[in-house]
Amino acid sequence: MKCKIVALGIVALTMISAVTETHSQTVSALVKPISSKYDVEIDKLISKMTLEEKIGMLHGNSMFSTGGVKRLGIPELKMADGPLGVREEISRDNWSSAGWTNDFATYYPASGALAATWNTKMAYTFGNSVGQELRARGKDMLLSPAINIVRTPLGGRTYEYLTEDPFLNKKMAVQLVTGLQKNDVMACIKHFAANNQETNRDFYDVQMDERTLREIYLPAFEAAIKEAKAYSIMGAYNKFRGEYLCENDYMLNQILRNEWGFKGIVVSDWAAVHSTVKSLKNGLDIEMGTPKPFNEFFLADKLIAAVKAGEISEAEIDIHVKRILRTLFQVKAMGAKDRVKGSIATEAHYQDAYKIAAESVVLLKNENNALPLKLAGIKSIAVIGNNATKKNALGGFGAGVKTKREITPLEGLKNRLPASIKINYAEGYLERYEEKKSGKLGDITLSGPVTIDQLDPVKLQEAIEAAKNSDMVIIFAGSNRDYETEASDRRNLKLPFGQEELIKKILEVNPKTIVVFIGGAPFDIDEIDKKTSAMVWSWFNGSEGGNALADVLLGNVNPSGKLPWTMPKNINESPAHATNSFPGDKTLTYNEGILVGYRWFDTKKIEPLYPFGYGLSYTNFSINNFTTDKTSYGKGETIRVKCTIKNTGSRYGAEVAQLYVSDPVCSVLRPDKELKAFEKVFLKPGESKTIELTIKVADLAFYDETKKGWNVETGEFVLHMGNSSRNISKSVKISVK
Ligand code: BGC
Repeated sequence: MKCKIVALGIVALTMISAVTETHSQTVSALVKPISSKYDVEIDKLISKMTLEEKIGMLHGNSMFSTGGVKRLGIPELKMADGPLGVREEISRDNWSSAGWTNDFATYYPASGALAATWNTKMAYTFGNSVGQELRARGKDMLLSPAINIVRTPLGGRTYEYLTEDPFLNKKMAVQLVTGLQKNDVMACIKHFAANNQETNRDFYDVQMDERTLREIYLPAFEAAIKEAKAYSIMGAYNKFRGEYLCENDYMLNQILRNEWGFKGIVVSDWAAVHSTVKSLKNGLDIEMGTPKPFNEFFLADKLIAAVKAGEISEAEIDIHVKRILRTLFQVKAMGAKDRVKGSIATEAHYQDAYKIAAESVVLLKNENNALPLKLAGIKSIAVIGNNATKKNALGGFGAGVKTKREITPLEGLKNRLPASIKINYAEGYLERYEEKKSGKLGDITLSGPVTIDQLDPVKLQEAIEAAKNSDMVIIFAGSNRDYETEASDRRNLKLPFGQEELIKKILEVNPKTIVVFIGGAPFDIDEIDKKTSAMVWSWFNGSEGGNALADVLLGNVNPSGKLPWTMPKNINESPAHATNSFPGDKTLTYNEGILVGYRWFDTKKIEPLYPFGYGLSYTNFSINNFTTDKTSYGKGETIRVKCTIKNTGSRYGAEVAQLYVSDPVCSVLRPDKELKAFEKVFLKPGESKTIELTIKVADLAFYDETKKGWNVETGEFVLHMGNSSRNISKSVKISVK
């Protein structure tokens, strides 16, 4: 039985590597800009519409759709929430479930997990798979991907976002949007922009310098629009430089439309609109919201009145209607016969979720090769922790997925372990909250849930007994989606529910203990790190998460995940906290500027617990022969870098070659290093592969505030090749003339 699974794991990984090579060439062919070929037809339609019908298309007429015009064959624009899969059907006029029985979907790994694969092919697979599901549910727009930068580890939506790094962010976002939109649907990239915490999200006003905006917070949005042609974008709740983001002329008109040439639809976040004429003039197209009569929305009756009063012209309304119609034509929603039909919750989609999950698990620590589990002579394993059975497809305040399949870690182990091994499960800690202090779930932007951190003596004793009476222990700790949730940030970085004490007590009675964390964001695990020999990081990891995790623990899959963010030792060392700029108040100034994530830790020489890009494997790799094609480059040239990656161990596995750049002498502060290219390489034992990575010299630029543009200064740059931001195998100097 076990051998069969080993073979399957290897086949799956081999296939992934074969596809990767041709991947980027084929993907760009799938990108389709919004076409203007239906414009004559659209103009005719608009000429037949009443003002009321036009304005009906500019605001929600249910929780997740805008108005259509039946008599002219214009359908409602139907949306579904995103990052974890297609959200269950919500009632038309309130947040309760619509009670459908055919809206079960695949629960996909959370975005943090996807980013941890460091495999852009996985982002494409994710997008394509979820796009199919969206069509099967008859929808036009997925409110996803969420590509805000992880600025603080405490951010409640960290698990929904990809990473702290703008380059990894954009590479994943482009593939995800491309895969998704291939299915005749619109991606709605969100939340545009500078929306990086939940506390006070309804009103905080973000201030940051232009360089920080351009280098850190915009690149993924820009690439998703320019390279993947994302058809829609969601304006965020908060303000940026004094203006709400759904009525922000600078962000919506000047940057998004004028600079980037965006032709699609700007949708508001739910109840993020604050004005009528101003919103529309400053770039918003559709107002969505939370329950109140839909005609009371800013872009409903009030807009009709504004047109009638001459505050805005009907011609201007037509511009917005035209954008929506063009996009509906683009995704074949206007009566086309050949629109993708899609499929949902199929075995193939569960396997997509499995593949992503299997590549996302990060091996943090593995002293004495404690992992993969050696089962010879093992008769019993204690499985301890509420997280062994906790489900995360639904939970918390944000969008979840109603699914028929969510394999928990405990179920995964039961599925994969031989029947002869006895599993002694003990819950260990209880998921408990102080209700009064936590406030009502859904009270927007209150600071996060308050956990009860005292262990229950009976549960603790049960866990100790299970640990004593078993040959080895696996503890499942971390968090869950009730604790990490939209609408609030975490109060601190501590492991909740008394887990640290539990883990210490278990280690005292059985040192043969593996600690597995499940979560979407960093935790303070420094103390545990000092006491444990084996630690694994997994995520809210989708329908097949438990099977994927068990396969990693047992060695059927060799872990290849790499952290998409820095795990600090202490929250106060993290940039937004060290600079005292979280959570701010009415005004929130990003004092750390461009030094977000590892850019801060590396520049300030603060050692994190685990660095960005870090993750171990059950095999070993060497990265050698790092060369550049030349030593000196002109500003319009491309740098071609080669290196050879070799699997020097005895198992099939994957390594991520990460190329960072530093600019030691520059007229402005540059981060110690910045990620500029990466590639995940799959290798058999003993196999080596020479890869070529390219960087345009133009991409070495910083955003120059004085020139209001990108600037590459001549002189020396250093290219660093490694497998995390802190583990560099070799550095090479080049110069730019
Ligand atoms: C979230 C969005 C989401 C919308 C609809 C908002 O609260 O910020 O990400 O798409 O609700 O559920």
